[in-house]
Amino acid sequence: MAELNVATTKLVQYLNEAYGLEQKLETSLQAHIAMTADAPYKKRLKAHLTETKRHGREVKKRIKALGGAPATIDAPGPDVVGDAAQAVLGGAQKAIALAQGPLHAIRGTGQEEKQLKNVKTEYASESEEIATYTTIRALAEALGDKDTQRLAREILREEERMRSYLEKQIPRFTKAVVKAEVPASERRTATRAKKSPPRAKRSAAVAGGAKAKGGRG
Ligand SMILES: [Fe+2]
Repeated sequence: MAELNVATTKLVQYLNEAYGLEQKLETSLQAHIAMTADAPYKKRLKAHLTETKRHGREVKKRIKALGGAPATIDAPGPDVVGDAAQAVLGGAQKAIALAQGPLHAIRGTGQEEKQLKNVKTEYASESEEIATYTTIRALAEALGDKDTQRLAREILREEERMRSYLEKQIPRFTKAVVKAEVPASERRTATRAKKSPPRAKRSAAVAGGAKAKGGRG
């Protein structure tokens, strides 16, 4: 293979970083797809898995076109392997969780919380990809590589769409955690009652100084 100039070496370096991210994400998406019981979320993850595989192929192709060598990635990290193992155990764990019910939920190991954790992980992964492709786009622009610039722009569009989808899922899955783990009596209304005294104190202080007793007169 011919020696690459400095600019091309830099492009290949960052493209390889993106290539590695795509491959890692492919593994974690597969694990998360296996773990979720939420149909619309599962469907969106599957769609993004298809996109992710395509991103990997396109980035690899671009690296080769530039004369570089696509880096082979390490085996999935321990967190990913852990997730995958959990996915395998999913069915049995679910049965146990159902039998143990609220006890399991109190420990914060409920399915809802695992689900929320996965969504947060996906969100973080998308953010990392967005940062990487934003770098590649700017680098390609600075070096006058229009093809790489276009590729980064196209992939970015899909990553950003996925991240904004995930952002909307976080409150939804958080509410599911609340519903599964917090008794109804401790939700919203109770929280409001707790929060109101400081506000009353504050307005009493504003109205007539700290000595005002009832604050009503
Ligand atoms: Fe991607």
